[in-house]
Amino acid sequence: MADTLRLNPNVAELPPYNAGMNIAVARSKSGLSEIAALASNENPYGCSPNVSAALAELNPSRYADPACVILRDALSKKLDVSGDRIVVGNGSEEMIAAVCRAVLRPFSTVATITPGFGLHEIEPRANGAKVVKIPMTKDLRFDLEAIAIALRKKPSIFFTSSPSNPVGTALDQDQLSRLITAVPKETLLVFDEAYFEFCDEQTPDGLKALADSAISYVVLRTFSKAYGLAGLRVGYAVASDERLAQAISSAKTPFNVNAAAQLAAVAALNDETWMSVSVASVIAERNRIAGKIASLGLFIPESQTNFLFIDVGCDSSIAFDHFLSHGVIVKPWKEPAFASFIRVTVGLPVENDRFLEALRLLKAKLAEAKVAS
Ligand SMILES: Cc1ncc(COP(=O)(O)O)c(C=O)c1O
Repeated sequence: MADTLRLNPNVAELPPYNAGMNIAVARSKSGLSEIAALASNENPYGCSPNVSAALAELNPSRYADPACVILRDALSKKLDVSGDRIVVGNGSEEMIAAVCRAVLRPFSTVATITPGFGLHEIEPRANGAKVVKIPMTKDLRFDLEAIAIALRKKPSIFFTSSPSNPVGTALDQDQLSRLITAVPKETLLVFDEAYFEFCDEQTPDGLKALADSAISYVVLRTFSKAYGLAGLRVGYAVASDERLAQAISSAKTPFNVNAAAQLAAVAALNDETWMSVSVASVIAERNRIAGKIASLGLFIPESQTNFLFIDVGCDSSIAFDHFLSHGVIVKPWKEPAFASFIRVTVGLPVENDRFLEALRLLKAKLAEAKVAS
């Protein structure tokens, strides 16, 4: 690249997205063939058999429907929301980018939560916005008071995931009502429910809670987690009104959701039973391993997702290397105040047992090092 070429500093200076290590890379780095990939919150049980049947009908030579009409109709029926308010993305991550592009101008302000999902910071910054991060409380709960104070400054967007990625905790009914009341009319609330299907029954459904409000909002959901379609890339945004949905749609690329992803998502929606059964198995495993981790004396916030956020008591990159040497990929958290945390996805029972054994060994190693020092 010639020195004279000027890059967009908003993009050139972005922090890298902290993606989970790929399985093939983990094999080559660890020299192990058996790898438990527990870093990206995928569904360990795969996806509905309906999906393979639908993919057999795929015609790769035709462009996909740019408006995703059949999928949006299916979502509209499922969610009881007009299809004109739904925009489908190449993963919900594309919808995060499109929302930013639709709403932000250089020097806009965006508020979000820390610890939080990387793209809630990266995409606003790529669009020239300044990002204000609101810390959770010491015991890793949403700090509604601090959120309300930040919202008084009327940021252009307030991003939060609920349940939180990486913490796993979700806003309860009262907290969500307080949040909705605190959102000014100048602010767009982006309520990211990527893990909605894993929530307890008492946890509010963001779409329903927001339906009666007068604020501008976008609810994000995805087929990557509970429905097991992470590799195909399909997620969606439900906007508070058609004008907002239209702006988000204009901000995406025209043929953003490929034909395989559209077929697969419709097929997955037609088999909610498969999804619910796999989610129930993941939750049972999550509760089993959370109990074992807590019994090791480690801090672990309550999770309503398919992952756990654990303070392992050492630098997360050291912990990452330790787990990799035992054939387990975890996500080392990188935000400075949380650099002793890892996030681990709930896998198959045998994978979770391998993780638990490696965690026990890490704890023993740290205790030994402490005695020696
Ligand atoms: C909170 C949250 N939002 C959005 C996404 C993006 O998911 P996808 O692009 O696979 O739909 C993720 C993925 O990990 C996530 O955790």
